[in-house]
Amino acid sequence: MARQYFCMALAVLLLLGVASVSTSKGLKGKEHQRASQIPSQFSQEERVTMKETLKGAIQIPTVSFKPGEFNRTALAEFGEYVYKAFPTVFRTSFIQHEVVGEYSHLFTVQGSDPRLQPYMLLSHIDVVPAPDQGWEVPPFSGLERDGFIYGRGTLDNKNAVMAILQALELLLIRNYIPRRSFYIALGHDEEVSGAGGAQKISALLQARGVQLAFIVDEGGFIVDHIVPSLSKPIAMVSVSEKGVLNLMLQVNMTTGHSAIPSEETSIGILAAAVNRLEQTPMPNMFGSGPLTMTLQQLANKFPFPINIVMNNLWLFGLCKQSFRCRSLERSPLTNALVRTTTAVTVFHSGIKENVIPPVAQAIVNFRIHPAQTGQEVLELAKNIVADDRVQFHVLDAFDPLPVSPSDDQALGYQLIRPTVQSVFPEVNIVVPGICIGITDSRHYSNLATGIYRFTPIYMQPQDLHSFHGINEKISVQGYETQVKFIFEFIQNADADQRPVPHLHEL
Ligand SMILES: *[C@@H]1O[C@H](CO)[C@@H](O)[C@H](O)[C@H]1NC(C)=O
Ligand SMILES: *[C@@H]1O[C@H](CO)[C@@H](O)[C@H](O)[C@H]1NC(C)=O
Repeated sequence: MARQYFCMALAVLLLLGVASVSTSKGLKGKEHQRASQIPSQFSQEERVTMKETLKGAIQIPTVSFKPGEFNRTALAEFGEYVYKAFPTVFRTSFIQHEVVGEYSHLFTVQGSDPRLQPYMLLSHIDVVPAPDQGWEVPPFSGLERDGFIYGRGTLDNKNAVMAILQALELLLIRNYIPRRSFYIALGHDEEVSGAGGAQKISALLQARGVQLAFIVDEGGFIVDHIVPSLSKPIAMVSVSEKGVLNLMLQVNMTTGHSAIPSEETSIGILAAAVNRLEQTPMPNMFGSGPLTMTLQQLANKFPFPINIVMNNLWLFGLCKQSFRCRSLERSPLTNALVRTTTAVTVFHSGIKENVIPPVAQAIVNFRIHPAQTGQEVLELAKNIVADDRVQFHVLDAFDPLPVSPSDDQALGYQLIRPTVQSVFPEVNIVVPGICIGITDSRHYSNLATGIYRFTPIYMQPQDLHSFHGINEKISVQGYETQVKFIFEFIQNADADQRPVPHLHEL
C-alpha cells in the first residue's frame, strides 16, 4: 500500500468500544456451502513449496525509488520468476497473460459462463526501499525465523501477488475450471503512483469495454485488540480510501544582507504559516459525508440500546463533545480516521548564512477524509494561514474514492463475508472500513463501483509499523491461510448468487 499505514474500519467501533457487538447475520450457514468446492487442503509438499516460493519472491528487490525510478533488473527478473514458479497458470489455455507498461502483469482467466460479470484481484509487485539498518535479518533475504518469513514485501504486497497466483496454480492442478471470468492485475509502481502500471492496465481494460462486478485489493485486515473493549477479532473490509492534496506554500520577499534584516523574512513568514496549519487541525468529520449511510446500516446490526446510540451519534454530533472522541483525536492512527490529516513534509529555504533568502517553500501533504474534497481542504488551508504573502500551489491532488456498497446486493462484499467465515471460523464480525493509505485500486474506479480492500491476514497494532518500516514479516501459517482464502474465494465467486434476483444478470 502506498505510504504509511493501512485501512481501518469505521471509527464508530473504536468510539463506542462496543463490548457486545452482535454476530453479523448471514455469516454462518448456507452461503458458503452452495459452491461445489474443491477442498482447501494442501499437502505437506505443497505447503513447503508455497512458502519457499514466497521467500524467492522476497529475494528479488523490486524497489520503487521514485516515480519513473525503479529497479528495472529486479522487475524483469520478477516476471521470469513467477513464470517459472507457476507453470500451470502460464500454460493453461483459458488464461491469457499480458505484460503491460513493461513490468506489470495482467492475467485474464476466461470463465465458462459468459453471463457472469467478471471481477478482478489486484496487488502490486513493487516495494519501498529497505536500508539494512535495524532489521533482524537482511530485508531482501526472505529468511524464516520462529515461524515468520522476514523481508520487504512480505505484507506489502508480495504476499498477495504470490498468494493469488499460488491459489490459482493449486486450483488448476486440481482441474478447476472457473465459471465466472476474472482478471488478475499486478502493478509494478504502486508505491510511486501507479501511473506506469495500474493506470495503463485500467486504460487497456476500458478500451476493451470491460466492466467489472467488483475488485478486491489490499487494504483492511483482520484486527485483534484494536478495539479496546472488544476482544473478538474483526474483519475490516475497506470500502473507501482517503484522497491526497500536496500543497506547496511559497513566500517571496526581497532579498537582502543579514546585517540589515527587515522585520520579517520569507522563512519567518512561511514558518508561521506552516505552524498555523499544524496547530489548527482540519475539522473532525466523524459521522459526516458518504460514510454516514454505511454507519447507519451498521448501526442497525447492533442490538438495543447500542443501535440507538450509534444511530444518533452523528445526528447530534455527540462525538465531537464526547471524551471518547477527543481521545480518538489524540492517537495519530485513530485521528487519521476522523479527519483530513495535515503533514508538513518538505521545507526549503536559504543559500548562505549571511544572505536573507528571497524565497521559502514548504510542501504540506494532506490526506483527505472521504467527507471532504481537495478543493474544500485547499480553501480551509488558505483560511487557516490567512496571510496574503503566502502563495498556494497545488502540486497534485485527488479526491477520496467513492464509498463502495456493502449492502446485501453488493456482490464482492457478500462474497468476502462467507469466505472469511469459512477460513476464519473464529471471526464473526465483518465491517466496512476506510483506508488511510492509498492503493492502486483508485486507478480502477472507472471499471467498478465495488472496490474492496481486504487482506485476509491477522494484524496486531504493533505489526502496522513494519509497513514501510523495519522487520516486515508474515507468519508461515498466515501466508498459507491467505492462499487458502483466495483458493476458496475464487470458487465462491462461481456460485450462483442468492437470494438477490437481479444479481443473476451480472
Ligand atoms: C536491482 O536488482 C538486482 C537483482 O535483480 C540486484 O542485483 C541489484 O542490486 C538491485 N539494485 C539496486 C540498486 O537495488
Ligand atoms: C517567487 O519566486 C519563485 C522562485 O524564484 C518564482 O518562480 C516566482 O515567479 C516568484 N513569484 C512571485 C509572485 O514573485
